[in-house]
Amino acid sequence: MQQEHLTRKDKIRNEKNINEADKAFLCLYLFTSLPKSFMIKSDGTNNESLFNVNYTHVKGERTMTATKGLEGIVAAASSISSIIDGVLTYRGIDIDDLAANATFEEVAYLLWYGKLPNRSELDGLQKQLDQFAAVPQGVLDQIKLYPKDTNSMAALRTAVSSLALYDASANDMSLEANQLKAIKLQAQLPTVIAAYARIREGKEPVAPKQGVSIAYNFLYMLTGNEPAEVAVKALDQALVLHADHELNASTFAARVTVATLSDIYSGVTSAIGALKGPLHGGANEAVMVMLEEIGSAANVESFINNALANKHKIMGFGHRVYKNGDPRAKHLQKMSRELGKLTGNMELYEMSVKIEELVTGQKGLKPNVDFYSASVYTTLEIPRDLFTPIFAISRVSGWSAHILEQYQDNRLIRPRADYVGPVNAKYIPIEQR
Ligand SMILES: CC(C)(COP(=O)(O)OP(=O)(O)OC[C@H]1O[C@@H](n2cnc3c(N)ncnc32)[C@H](O)[C@@H]1OP(=O)(O)O)[C@@H](O)C(=O)NCCC(=O)NCCS
Repeated sequence: MQQEHLTRKDKIRNEKNINEADKAFLCLYLFTSLPKSFMIKSDGTNNESLFNVNYTHVKGERTMTATKGLEGIVAAASSISSIIDGVLTYRGIDIDDLAANATFEEVAYLLWYGKLPNRSELDGLQKQLDQFAAVPQGVLDQIKLYPKDTNSMAALRTAVSSLALYDASANDMSLEANQLKAIKLQAQLPTVIAAYARIREGKEPVAPKQGVSIAYNFLYMLTGNEPAEVAVKALDQALVLHADHELNASTFAARVTVATLSDIYSGVTSAIGALKGPLHGGANEAVMVMLEEIGSAANVESFINNALANKHKIMGFGHRVYKNGDPRAKHLQKMSRELGKLTGNMELYEMSVKIEELVTGQKGLKPNVDFYSASVYTTLEIPRDLFTPIFAISRVSGWSAHILEQYQDNRLIRPRADYVGPVNAKYIPIEQR
């Protein structure tokens, strides 16, 4: 069948005043088929002066590139976290500083309220986390009905969605109610995941303990035993490192969802769905699958050479934004080494280092946050399929901070697509097809 296609130029000429940026948002133009070099200048014109686009609010003289995967596109204004010249900050504080000094609860407070809590504010948050950590019995009863082989992220996605059904304030859009729901979700996610992990093994869930950190409580609810201090410290630091990351895929998904003025549970459910994928949060589990497949340090070289020769991606390497290394990876590497030494089992760490040498040496790709997380969590005896849910325990602080920020200055997020399909097509009766 002959099909007529709009050329890109026709399309652009037909589009007058495609969109305009408001103070919070820059327009997104999804000209996904454009080559990466096709530049849109900050004044809205492109190299060929074809665009009739009014780009405002781009600071300074910048150019923007419309690319596949929205690479390099600024899609929101945010004051929560930044990645500038390879340095990650939460509310302006370097992640290295926070990793060395802050607890995860302090970081969550920082993300939500824009400042570090003083002692009484932190105590107040701890009381709220204690108050909300138990999960409605109805949600636990539902988890018991999940098929035994349910994917852990699918279980979390479903459970978080059903938490909304038991929250009378789920659709209350006041700032106070939404701030409280952010804390509720933060308190309940660890409980849901630990309960799911036990229920699938035929065990009863362990009720959350009061007055302990989220890291402590999660490990406690998972095993029913008091966790070792070193394990709590390691998990707490991992939670700090994963808490927020600018406009990553899951955070963007959350913001898109709530920009329709949908509720916070819907936003977090969307985010969990996005985090599940192996190109995002699912990578930490995929790293462990790879480490298990490799089996021992002796097999690393042949495995990696073979994978790279066959153009397979090595999970836990590369990053859309960081090209000179993920600032979080070094902390996890250090943690992996220290935990390995402490437990007297350096195998996973040594394998990981060898993989890094080969992948960085041959491809120039550096490890990202997920790479050394895998050996850290395994050394903490956490089941492999809980790695990505643990990421969610941490990132729900960032998601909810972004959701609150979105509500504060909302505009529907509705970009355009570059239509490349047929035009003037006609309906053909079924008998004639
Ligand atoms: C993170 C990631 C999705 C970023 O993707 P991106 O910015 O779209 O980059 P691309 O996938 O287009 O990769 C660019 C090039 O580097 C290569 N590359 C990127 N990551 C790679 C990896 N982990 N292993 C091998 N090659 C990789 C791609 O094959 C591509 O090569 P090509 O240009 O020859 O085709 C990507 O690096 C990846 O898939 N990493 C593995 C998954 C992972 O660890 N995700 C967690 C991120 S925190």
